Amino acid sequence: NDAPIILAIETSCDETAAAVIKGGKEVLSNVVSSQIESHKRFGGVVPEIASRHHVEQITFIVEEALSEANLTFSDLDALAVTAGPGLVGALLIGVNAAKAIAFAHGLPLIPVHHIAGHIYANQLEKPLEFPLISLVVSGGHTELIYMKEDGHFEVIGETRDDAVGEAYDKVARTLKLPYPGGPEIDKLAAKGEANIDLPRAWLETGSYDFSFSGLKSAVINVLHNASQRGEEVKPEDLAASFQASVVEVLVTKAKQAAEEYNVKQLVVAGGVAANKGLRDSLEKALENSEAELRIPSLKLCTDNAAMIGAAAYTGWKSNKFAKLDLNGEPGLPL
Ligand code: KG4
Ligand code: ZN
Repeated sequence: NDAPIILAIETSCDETAAAVIKGGKEVLSNVVSSQIESHKRFGGVVPEIASRHHVEQITFIVEEALSEANLTFSDLDALAVTAGPGLVGALLIGVNAAKAIAFAHGLPLIPVHHIAGHIYANQLEKPLEFPLISLVVSGGHTELIYMKEDGHFEVIGETRDDAVGEAYDKVARTLKLPYPGGPEIDKLAAKGEANIDLPRAWLETGSYDFSFSGLKSAVINVLHNASQRGEEVKPEDLAASFQASVVEVLVTKAKQAAEEYNVKQLVVAGGVAANKGLRDSLEKALENSEAELRIPSLKLCTDNAAMIGAAAYTGWKSNKFAKLDLNGEPGLPL
């Protein structure tokens, strides 16, 4: 069966999501319930609250995904679930729901790595072509990944401190913007000018690693020094300057990797792929490149279960099934 109908579940952070995917690319349904409103007043995701929401939501979200696809459990060929990385309590809700459904209906269970999901989100729109380099930018990850072929991942660079989305959210908090701060900074940056001098962390020559904590501190220092001198910093200019620094480093390293590895595609993935400044700058940088730029549409950038169903198809083809002792692994390696 090369067009299996897979029910996918994703609960690694603050979205409870279920989707039905046929043949790894056809989205029959894609239901996402966001908890952002519940976490907003705390300025970030509170793990215990996330777990409780997942427990309350998961049954309804799964039922909704099936009913939107006009299917019942008996129509399914397999279950797929995010097994990690993520918040352990949050992961466990999805993993246990998937195991229960798989057991009750005698279906195979496919474990999926959350980052593989973000990358394969692109497959829902157009086939991935290998070899490729993926720039993964989310709230928990900043990585450059070389994929020689389908299902094969080599991390060639990663952040040494904060993830890029995390840096966005922290800078947003110092600017007193609501959570999640990424989209807020993105909007603000569009109105400002990148006229404040901020550092770019290139690290050692040839390194594909990233670092964003120094930049975050530099932003805090600019605000602090200005307030001590009784001066005003225009928040839109600070946002634009911060975004310019982030985007310049991400785009330069991603382009360099795409050239060095001589790839067919540069595939952008994760929540920060929704960033307008990053999208525009990548498009410009890769205009005359051999590598084709792939960025998912906004809806597929942030956490969802359709991407998990897309990645699960690779596991289905290579019979990578989990047993019913599958556990959620917060630090699962790719
Ligand atoms: O992939 P995702 O939904 O969840 C994780 O797996 O982490 O990414 C969420 C992150 C948050 O840090 C959020 O602020 C950031 O993506 N984000 C953005 C934008 N939209 C979401 N960052 C910058 N610009 C955006 N437009
Ligand atoms: Zn994610």
